[in-house]
Amino acid sequence: MEKILDLISSKMASAFEAAGYDASFGRVNVSNRPDLCEYQCNGALAAAKQYKCAPIQIAKAVVAQLDADDYSLVEAVMPGFINLKLSGHFLQQYLEQMRAADAFGLDKIGAGKTVVVDYGGPNVAKPLHIGHLRSAIIGESLKRLYKYFGYHTIGDIHLGDWGLQMGLIIAELRERQPDLPYFDPDFNGEYPAEAPFTISELEEIYPTASAKKKEDAAFAEKAHTATFELQQGRPGYRAIWQHIMNVSVADLKKNYDNLDVHFESWLGESDADPYIPAMIADMKKQGLLVESEGALVMPVAEDSDKKEVPPCILVKSDGASIYATTDLATMVQRMQDFHPDKILYLTDKRQALHFEQVFRAARKSGIVKPETELEHLGFGTMNGTDGKPFKTRDGGVMRLEQLVSDMTNFVRSKVVENKIVAEDEVEETTKKIAMAALKYGDLSNQPTKDYIFDLDRFAAFEGNTGPYILYTIVRIKSILAKYGAWEHLEIQEPANESAKDLMLSITKFGPTLEGALKSSAPNLICAYIYDLAGCVNKFYHQTRILGEEDAQKKAGYVALIGLAKRILEQCIDLLGFSAPDKM
Ligand code: ARG
Repeated sequence: MEKILDLISSKMASAFEAAGYDASFGRVNVSNRPDLCEYQCNGALAAAKQYKCAPIQIAKAVVAQLDADDYSLVEAVMPGFINLKLSGHFLQQYLEQMRAADAFGLDKIGAGKTVVVDYGGPNVAKPLHIGHLRSAIIGESLKRLYKYFGYHTIGDIHLGDWGLQMGLIIAELRERQPDLPYFDPDFNGEYPAEAPFTISELEEIYPTASAKKKEDAAFAEKAHTATFELQQGRPGYRAIWQHIMNVSVADLKKNYDNLDVHFESWLGESDADPYIPAMIADMKKQGLLVESEGALVMPVAEDSDKKEVPPCILVKSDGASIYATTDLATMVQRMQDFHPDKILYLTDKRQALHFEQVFRAARKSGIVKPETELEHLGFGTMNGTDGKPFKTRDGGVMRLEQLVSDMTNFVRSKVVENKIVAEDEVEETTKKIAMAALKYGDLSNQPTKDYIFDLDRFAAFEGNTGPYILYTIVRIKSILAKYGAWEHLEIQEPANESAKDLMLSITKFGPTLEGALKSSAPNLICAYIYDLAGCVNKFYHQTRILGEEDAQKKAGYVALIGLAKRILEQCIDLLGFSAPDKM
């Protein structure tokens, strides 16, 4: 469906033309003086210079050409502005079209295109901590947004499963249980099917080994060797690696499911490994690699760089591959298997330089096509109420599970205390509200900025919060339930000011989503639904909806809030949460 601004701009352009001026002056904007008008066209001011006459004269001539049915106000004001308010009739027609259209008339600009969203990025064998929250939440939301626009989307978790942490675990396990068959180079039987550790043991082994590496140089050396041998394919190490993967991935799935975050692809750094030799050989052939202190690197600096961009290291002096190597090889795999038009990466913004290097290396070596878009969305840090990176009470790194359960417990106590739902619905309602609080609390901030995690504020039922949005939806649901079947009801002309404001807000659905997609900014969706929910509540307070005696009018009110509900629900689905029936 055509966006309202485009629609009235094209009507304005025709009016300029009919009045004898160039159509290009007809661009209409949202008014920056909402007290005076809803939309505004300043084209007469520019036209005056070209046609050498008074702008007000042009504005008046253009206004005379506009279709009066479309506007409740249309006036030329000094020095030559054209101020507009849409008519109830125009809005009614527009919303009625939105109501009936697929996806509210959204322009499916992604049809036929594929995007890979690389998010989550947990490291195998390490518990998920709060540093993983933003990638999961923002990534899931953007992926859903791409999908809604018609893109074929592949969310890839890109597990960190190939680096030193694997070597550390192997080395530590070897010290603890040297007699395991995995460490016997002459062993040629079948390795046990059962892992020699549980998830909680694994989560203890890794930090122990990691701490040991810092103090014990000999151990660090062993871990490096184990990493290298694993990458080279030593069978016993591959078998341990497989155990680590099985135990760890099952746990990760559980955690992400809990957040309602779902990946289409569970590939990891290790899956890129088979692509590395040919990729490096090709880079060598193209003369893109140089040797530097025993390592093979690709210089990627450009003349226009304002900061130093160091070469991209691809093969370390010991022959091992590193983060950049697996990222590039993963691109090779993605181009081959998915043919993406775009790859979007979500990580902490401290990885910005890494992605700059990798993107340049990918372009130089022709791994991606020139038209393939590469974007890194680097997000800010989640801070505590003290403004410093969020920590547990004793200053440790907080587990993601812990954060989710703190939020859930807090919300549950409110739900129970206020007797919001029957006992058997407490858990489900609590979970929905907690997810809304957590996700909206994060997503309502510009992704690149740091934000303060404030449990009390995020979980409040009033203010700019997820629960407030849910509350508004629940309020509409309850009116609709009392009314009965409403889906077929048609939108009517606005009966009052607050109905009109609500209708105007609804028309901004498509442009808002497009803006959010183009700038990778779910926060724009949050700001939009906060405004929309405010309009719904104002309308609710100023209008007797179910108490209205005129059946036709009542049906119009119900149709309007029904449409608002559908839009709110669609938007929260894009943010990754959903509304309960009661609250
Ligand atoms: N595992 C990485 C980390 O913890 C994040 C991976 C992000 N994705 C990527 N393709 N590099 O920092």
